[in-house]
Amino acid sequence: MSADTAARAARKIGKSDLRRQRECAARVRKINESRAETPLSYVDTYGCQQNEADSEKLRGMLLEMGYSPAADGEGADVVVINTCAIRSHAEKRVLGVIGALGHVKAERPGRVLAVCGCMPQRAGMAETLRRSYGYVDLVFGVHALWRFPELLEKALGDKERVFAVDGDGGAIAEGLPSARDGSVKAWLPIMYGCDNFCTYCVVPHVRGRERSREADDVISEARALADSGYRDITLLGQNVNSYGRGGVDGADFPGLLRRVNGVDGDFLIRFMTSHPKDAGEALFRAMSECEKVARHIHLPFQAGGDRVLRAMNRGYTSGAYLALIDAARRIMPDIVITSDVIVGFPGELREDFDATLRLVDTVRFDALFTFIYSPREGTPAAVMDDPVPKREKQAWFDELLASQNAISANKHAAYVGRTVRALVDGRDVGGGAWTARTNGGRLVRVAGGGIGDGDIGRFIDVKITGSAAWSLTGEKKE
Ligand code: SAH
Ligand code: SF4
Ligand code: F3S
Repeated sequence: MSADTAARAARKIGKSDLRRQRECAARVRKINESRAETPLSYVDTYGCQQNEADSEKLRGMLLEMGYSPAADGEGADVVVINTCAIRSHAEKRVLGVIGALGHVKAERPGRVLAVCGCMPQRAGMAETLRRSYGYVDLVFGVHALWRFPELLEKALGDKERVFAVDGDGGAIAEGLPSARDGSVKAWLPIMYGCDNFCTYCVVPHVRGRERSREADDVISEARALADSGYRDITLLGQNVNSYGRGGVDGADFPGLLRRVNGVDGDFLIRFMTSHPKDAGEALFRAMSECEKVARHIHLPFQAGGDRVLRAMNRGYTSGAYLALIDAARRIMPDIVITSDVIVGFPGELREDFDATLRLVDTVRFDALFTFIYSPREGTPAAVMDDPVPKREKQAWFDELLASQNAISANKHAAYVGRTVRALVDGRDVGGGAWTARTNGGRLVRVAGGGIGDGDIGRFIDVKITGSAAWSLTGEKKE
């Protein structure tokens, strides 16, 4: 092992440190059990799947500490807001929510209001929360998540407010309890942090250096999920293709996929996100040879113009991206491809945006997540010249959306009349129908005879009868 490799191998939080957290949790539980009524907690989550996965751990720890889940923040004794910093809109929304909880706090002074996740890790944000949101009792960042029992115990006991915004310790906490959302689909983080430093992105700054879990830890969690009946497992990382890089066990992502595929059980394996600069034929071969791996890849391209891709520090050209798409389709002709794109990166001109439109037209994604560039303080892009007015960026954005909606609608229309296997994962909001996902991750609303709550968690055959840009409709085929 080279010195560099050793330095990059992730450090696991020690057993005694974790034991100390369990002891804190047990003390809080004891207090809670002596209360006349079981106290309630609520975790409100913003941002990506990684945050969803973190919130499941927060809920797991809260259960361990004797809190029952509340339906909303208003009636809860402990409210945790797990925040996202990816765009300024996301942050403003969260600050609005925190502001709105101020009056509830005034009515029930005994309650604890906690703010955690990516926002407090941003330079200056913890200070803003300290100064302008005096009723927030506890602020902690992503690197302190595993210390939540200790921090909550302190916040419950202290008159002082508690702030724990640690730097990136480069560590991994295994074995935290997790109270998962639902019983059909599960998140399985395989790595944390990001080393790619795309020039617009806050994630490497707030989530710290990339580190991978040991393959054996991932496999035992996958096995436990499969044994508990989960049918859809999504492996999570900011760039799953660099899984294992610099690690000691020689694991890589295609190898990990093959190992998860070898776990017994009837379940689908999904993963996100793939960075195009590290994706390649080895990944597509592993996907095509593993029967449990969904035929879907989310492969964000971010921009179609090479000048912009370079300024974004993405590490590939549009030509290389298109070659990757060709390779994926050659190996898996039926693969569903989705992507992310940013409109209005600093210095993007109409001709660059036209290259984005052309790329979208060439690839014909099944779905596309479109974002208007949002400057993030502390990132290189935030200080680049950005002369195009917001109004114009919005017009480009609308143009792109219209173009993609037509493509998605067209792709979905091709499903009509076909029968596809889909996993029923819940009831549609408003009742009357159930929701299901195809192997490629397309949403199907299933209505009509034969379908019921007993189908939740089952793979069923669905005859597709209708389509729209973002979803399909169908009937269960007996
Ligand atoms: N790690 C993933 C993306 C995580 S963030 C990847 O590299 O693909 C999810 C998406 O948010 C990104 O793909 C990008 O399209 C968008 N995004 C990130 N930073 C942004 C910013 N400053 N402004 C607008 N969109 C942004
Ligand atoms: Fe952000 Fe780029 Fe890392 Fe994705 S790969 S999280 S866009 S820095
Ligand atoms: Fe947001 Fe943090 Fe995820 S910034 S997108 S919640 S990694």
